[in-house]
Amino acid sequence: MKTNKLAVIGVGHVGSYVLADAMKIGLFSEIVVIDKDKDIAFGEALDQAHATALPYMTNIDVYAGDYADCADADVIICAAGPSIIKTEDNETPDRAMLAMENGKVVREVMEGITEYTKEAIIIFITNPLDTVVYIAENEFNYPRGHIFGTGTMLDSARLRHVVANNYNIDPKSVTGYMMGEHGLTAFPVFSRLNVQGFGEEELDSIFVGKEPLDREKFGQKVVKSAYDVLNGKGWTNAGVAQSAITLTKAVLLNEKSVHPVSTTLQGQYGYHGDVALSMPCIIGRNGVEKQLEIELDERELELLHKSAKYIQETMKVAET
Ligand code: 2OP
Repeated sequence: MKTNKLAVIGVGHVGSYVLADAMKIGLFSEIVVIDKDKDIAFGEALDQAHATALPYMTNIDVYAGDYADCADADVIICAAGPSIIKTEDNETPDRAMLAMENGKVVREVMEGITEYTKEAIIIFITNPLDTVVYIAENEFNYPRGHIFGTGTMLDSARLRHVVANNYNIDPKSVTGYMMGEHGLTAFPVFSRLNVQGFGEEELDSIFVGKEPLDREKFGQKVVKSAYDVLNGKGWTNAGVAQSAITLTKAVLLNEKSVHPVSTTLQGQYGYHGDVALSMPCIIGRNGVEKQLEIELDERELELLHKSAKYIQETMKVAET
């Protein structure tokens, strides 16, 4: 009988958190753990297997495997390759600096996967995310829409947290997102931000804010918040893992949820297959089922082009 199967590729700080979250959502009966370090894959899988004996866990068949085990996977989440980590001077290391190294990693991973399947939906987390997604989507003849990246879904969660924190409300009541690069040039789409229908112009008068909503300042706070985590604990993992799991659930249950994720643009905003970046998309059993080209105001469009240009510069570094 066909069961729901997940493959997690790369189980460092991020992948192991994805694995732990995936073990708890009750959607998978089988999870294969793949890492180039076989001992780590074995250890992570066995640790999770032990947890299945305890009351709040589902009995999932979790084991270490290799690319051949992707053959019947429904979803593959890839967090392989190095991440940006805390620096001595608590600086803001750019995800783009991983382009050359993780360009190689994504090509290796895609070669491994495509030897066995072109059916699974693949969700990338590896940075620089948009460059990684572009390579995976465009160099392996994989079905369009079946590959995408968490992208600014994470930055958007941070935006919603920052706004909600300002007004002391539940971040789930805030609708809004960041677009563009998952990185330093991500920008908030304030023209579409709202709290249950109350838009940008109304928020300061309806809710009691710690400070007035300022586009520039709040956008910067969101980008910086990744580094606040990084400079605190050394790496980030919880937010991105939960983003990947939310997307996985949208795929498995064919939810048609709308989330900002990274894919190659096909004519939107004037880009024809020459850049991948995050924009709102409908996510269902076929992965990205539609890219939603939302109308942006003049300033937001400017920021989108700036972000696209930056991603294209990063992509050059990862060229073969
Ligand atoms: C994050 O934004 C580092 O891309 C990772 O948490």
